[in-house]
Amino acid sequence: MDKLLIRGQRRLKGEVTISGAKNAALGILPAALLLSDVCTVENIPNILDIAILRRIMESLGARFIDIDENTLRVDATNVSSYTATGEDMHRFRGSYYLMGALLGRFKKAVVTFPGGCNFGSRPIDQHIKGFEALGAKVEIEHGHIKLTANKLTGANIYLDVVSVGATVNIMLAAVKAEGITTIENAAKEPHIVDIANFLNAMGADIKGAGTDIIRIRGVRELKGNVVHCIIPDMIEAGTYMIAAAATRGDVLVKNVIPKHMESLSAKLVEMNVKIQEYDDSIRVWAKDRLTRANIKTLPYPGFPTDLQPPAAVLLLQADGISTITESIFDNRFQYIDELKRMGAKARVEGRMAVIEGGSKLTGAPVKALDLRAGAACVLAGCVAEGITEVSNVSYIDRGYERMVEKLNSLGADIRRVSDSDGT
Ligand code: UD1
Repeated sequence: MDKLLIRGQRRLKGEVTISGAKNAALGILPAALLLSDVCTVENIPNILDIAILRRIMESLGARFIDIDENTLRVDATNVSSYTATGEDMHRFRGSYYLMGALLGRFKKAVVTFPGGCNFGSRPIDQHIKGFEALGAKVEIEHGHIKLTANKLTGANIYLDVVSVGATVNIMLAAVKAEGITTIENAAKEPHIVDIANFLNAMGADIKGAGTDIIRIRGVRELKGNVVHCIIPDMIEAGTYMIAAAATRGDVLVKNVIPKHMESLSAKLVEMNVKIQEYDDSIRVWAKDRLTRANIKTLPYPGFPTDLQPPAAVLLLQADGISTITESIFDNRFQYIDELKRMGAKARVEGRMAVIEGGSKLTGAPVKALDLRAGAACVLAGCVAEGITEVSNVSYIDRGYERMVEKLNSLGADIRRVSDSDGT
């Protein structure tokens, strides 16, 4: 597997353009399966998760035409299979959207449990509760989830936890159900709005996406020939904003929606990082000493859990003791041990990481234990003295388009080598 060799202590400077949102694309492509027709999706990030999803959808009968590197025409006319049980399903979390999409199209689906980053237990009970409320029978057999319904009927569904995945999956299954579905305590992430906008453009009737009550009036048919452009990836944008601050650099992060970045921007300002917002870009620079801060992850519009590993690298550069409280996942601090190999002074107490700022980071061999943990290792490598070797790079490929190229264009010194190079 490939490794990254990072020579650190580089101030990142210049401009970087953010790609389309991974988590929106992972919902939008399966949503195209609800349609027996063609649609075009622009601004799709060129990342591993999407390549795997595409392979699975092709195995179901979907056809893809590459219009350009980030634009795909999806033809779901001849999709005939509702069974997605191959190895690929385990490779990423977003495969769970095939449940809602196939159920919505065929009233049947047989899928394997999703994989994805290991942050402790990641149940899908709320997805299943939603499908059952719509009238599906759910059976678990040999590691597969089998969903069957004679007909799907709208229902009131109250989510016991705010879940992005369950909100989107219920939306997908309910779009063509008979009658009205209401999701209460729905997640409000921007990509939920993006997926709803895509479905509405195809003729769905979804209201309230982006609030905690979503109402879906079922429609008989969806129409094709829609062109949809995916929103920018707020987590990728946040990663580069943090990278600029952590390396005491000066970066214009382009193609972002500044409103989506508010929880991070506010935290950066609190830490004495300078921020200038424009219509669709944000300049981030840091010259002065950084102030400690406490971060608590929360569902949107709170501080995103996916940005807490990169944020830990920034807090290590600040004066004093900071904390991160993780309130979404029960085991998302494994990366702290990797940072400790680089000299980080930090400890984990249950769901809180206590981070002692001001300690010098030095290059070391570290592992990308998951996607965002991998991003944290890369940022730490850019800050540290000497050379950092990050292994398990495929995790980073899963969610960041051309990360090495983008960071190097800002002045980082990162080289990708494969194990076969003997390095
Ligand atoms: C999605 C994102 C992931 C992000 C996370 C939180 C995708 C592909 N992944 O993951 O990048 O970190 O949102 O913003 O979009 N839960 C249950 N039962 C369920 C579903 C969830 O108890 O049926 C719990 C989870 O264990 C977690 C919390 O709800 O504690 C939030 O999870 P959820 O929003 O569903 O995250 P994912 O969809 O897995």
